[in-house]
Amino acid sequence: MRTFRTWMAAGLMGCAATLGVRAQDVQGFVHEQSDASGYVWPEDRQVREKLAEWQDQKFGVLFHWGLYSVPGIVESWSICSEDEEWIPRDTTMSYDEYKRWYWGLKDRFNPTGFAPEQWAAVMKDAGMRYMIFTTKHHDGFCMYDSKYTDFSIARGPFRTNARRDVARHVFDAFREAGFMVGAYFSKPDWHCPWYWHPYFATPTRRHNYKKERHPDWWQRYQTFTENQLLELTAGYGPFDILWLDGGWVTGEDVHLDNVLARARQTSPGLISVDRTIRGRNENYQTPERSIPDRQLSYPWESCLTLSNDWGWTPNAPYKAPERVIAALVEVTAKGGCLLLGVGPTPEGTIEQPVVERLHRVGEWLRQNGEAIYATRPTPHYHDGHVWFTANKDGRTLYAIYTVEEGEALPAEIGWTKNLPKGKMYLLQTGKRVKYAVDGERVTVSLPQGLRSESLVFRFEAE
Ligand code: GLC
Repeated sequence: MRTFRTWMAAGLMGCAATLGVRAQDVQGFVHEQSDASGYVWPEDRQVREKLAEWQDQKFGVLFHWGLYSVPGIVESWSICSEDEEWIPRDTTMSYDEYKRWYWGLKDRFNPTGFAPEQWAAVMKDAGMRYMIFTTKHHDGFCMYDSKYTDFSIARGPFRTNARRDVARHVFDAFREAGFMVGAYFSKPDWHCPWYWHPYFATPTRRHNYKKERHPDWWQRYQTFTENQLLELTAGYGPFDILWLDGGWVTGEDVHLDNVLARARQTSPGLISVDRTIRGRNENYQTPERSIPDRQLSYPWESCLTLSNDWGWTPNAPYKAPERVIAALVEVTAKGGCLLLGVGPTPEGTIEQPVVERLHRVGEWLRQNGEAIYATRPTPHYHDGHVWFTANKDGRTLYAIYTVEEGEALPAEIGWTKNLPKGKMYLLQTGKRVKYAVDGERVTVSLPQGLRSESLVFRFEAE
């Protein structure tokens, strides 16, 4: 079985060999997941409806764009002094010098090529249907014009640009293109002096003082964060999703219940993703850089990177379209959505290698999308390289055979159970294919001359 684990391991080994990247570049940071038993179905009918609508979209994009995109390094984490191999940092500088250099990137971030319409066109061409954008990552740099800080794209060299309020233009371009739209927001803020207080060192991702000794500092951090969440949800909506990262700060810490109650007045049914914090404000779960090993009975989304990093890096080792398609198929068969991480360049565009790969994913979806979008998981969902999804009509099944890059198609494809009755069609050609059933086993004979790509067979189930 080619699960995501092998999918990722093969890719990482491949890129490490060809590009000679350092070990820390290929180590993903994976948060703990909420306990499955902790899923709480939302009480708000509009949230449940929006969740159902979102579950039909299946494929989305997660943009990481921020200060770290300027030099093309790991997102935010290099200024956090935790001794982890996945946090690379320039070793020629002391930690303090390094942080000064990093904060100084705000004076270099001037994305004069910023073209959110191009982003939306590329993602639409890829067959994506929802998008999440980093309004503020852990480093605290705002990609929108926050009135609570000067540390933002709108107050640096880009301030004279008509599109300095970057996030607004990103959200608008994607709404215009018909996407469901979400805001990524990091609850931790390493630039906020009430979170990482300048009086103390900054050894970990957490606030760097004792709350009991400095309750006023913590309270200021709470108010600051709540204010930012309120200005964002009131001023940049309506949103479909609020995607909150940094689960070591809780929803209570930033008065999330209040934020959501207010936000849902202007964004009815807003889906709250308070990541890794099970309970009423984690309306769907978000396994990161991995695909669950089985179907899950509640709403979820795997977030995977197209490259190895979330943000843009130079000469990134992008995954092949075949692997993106295989991941989308596996996630769909298991009942989830796929959120693919893409990093816009420091100039503000989606670079050509991404455009090309995603175009091929989109080509496949234009032909085979009926086996993905708005489908439902079916109890018997997997057999070898074949994954199954079901049409909402409750009769039509899709069997999807996934290929790897460069793989030659076999002459026959088989699976057990999910037996067809009547005609079977191959979506790549739109034509009928011959099959035989022997007991529990189905064997399909492939016609000559097919393109080597993942194949979808449509049939009515017995
Ligand atoms: C993790 C990382 C964060 C990244 C996110 C994307 O939470 O801490 O840097 O933005 O994953 O899923």
